[in-house]
Amino acid sequence: MYLTAEEERMLEGEYGPAKAIALRVLVKVGEAVGANRLIAIKHAHVSGASYMTIGEAGRRFLEDLARMGAKVSVPTTVNPVSYDLEDLEAIPFTRIEPKVMKGQAAILRALKSMGVELTLTCTPYYLEEVASRLSTGDHVAWGESSAVAYANSVLGVWTNREGGPIALMAAITGRTYYYGPHDPKWRRPVRAFRVSIAKPLDTAEAGVLGYMVASMHEEERPPLVDAWFGGDGALKEFLAAVGTAGNLAMVYIPGVTPGDPGDEISEVVTIGYEDLRSEMERLAPPTQPEILYVGCPHSSVQELRELAAALKKYGRPKARIVVSLSRGLYLKALREGLLAFLSGYGVEFVRDTCLIVSPFSKFSRGVVVATNSYKAYHYLSRKGVKAGIASITQMVRMSA
Ligand code: F3S
Repeated sequence: MYLTAEEERMLEGEYGPAKAIALRVLVKVGEAVGANRLIAIKHAHVSGASYMTIGEAGRRFLEDLARMGAKVSVPTTVNPVSYDLEDLEAIPFTRIEPKVMKGQAAILRALKSMGVELTLTCTPYYLEEVASRLSTGDHVAWGESSAVAYANSVLGVWTNREGGPIALMAAITGRTYYYGPHDPKWRRPVRAFRVSIAKPLDTAEAGVLGYMVASMHEEERPPLVDAWFGGDGALKEFLAAVGTAGNLAMVYIPGVTPGDPGDEISEVVTIGYEDLRSEMERLAPPTQPEILYVGCPHSSVQELRELAAALKKYGRPKARIVVSLSRGLYLKALREGLLAFLSGYGVEFVRDTCLIVSPFSKFSRGVVVATNSYKAYHYLSRKGVKAGIASITQMVRMSA
């Protein structure tokens, strides 16, 4: 791999041992995928910060880096952790054990000492401090597959689908390997999916569509998906599903994705209403849910408003309603009075974490969860929770 003079000095340890190790890792990964140079990045987003997902090995890795004096070189945000830092009882059915608290606190200390901003959300693109720093065509290094797909497909900000540790190495060096989505030629779609449904897709439908597209598209380069998404929450759920059900880092969405798609599409697949309907029916909640879950990835304003409208129409449901969201959106909803309105209907808010990266599944075997998120459905089911998909309005109605 070609390295600049500064990168050579970094590799030789002139900027400290942590940077040298981080650069060595990036060079090795880059060489393994065939990259021939590195590229400067403007921002990094690190995933894999929950003690429940990275455990003792992850904690030791981060503490070792912090002890070596590692510091991030670009603004860096981080994914959710194991519990709500201000409310240990926020997650239903769940007890935060001392071992989890101790391990999580150590992870947070290590990340903070490296200069990582403890945003603790998987929707960094909704944070004003992130959005205001980035422009179309900027190169970044993001972990968290849903955020990667959103960055490439909606913001037009270019990122590899980085693993959590690689995103941290990129943050420390301010570089990543020049590969895939960083190359304009790679970003041109090679197959089109035309969705012939004459109504806007809601968040649940958009997620199931994302799963269908990812299951049919095996190429690494992006598909073009021509569909009518009913707002930003639907786009978020679609792209999270795309990142969950496959390895896609990007989808070209006409009218949404910045830039020209080029003319390399060699095949057009049509998806009709019946195709989507039958998948929705197959993935519906198995029985009456005990929890209605919104906010994977962390909730959008659109989802909060849709939930408020459904509650106003159908009243307080029998099931508990849980919303996971960023602290930023929590404060915004508080200021706008939306939080008070939703709390009045019994909605429970979970910040800094979610039902998947917290210990929820350990304490909730047999609990039935209805969710508008394909990604939440996928991971909760894999963790032994009985989950099914329905739109926010359907969930509230079915539990009324
Ligand atoms: Fe975010 Fe948790 Fe879903 S980290 S993307 S809400 S699994």
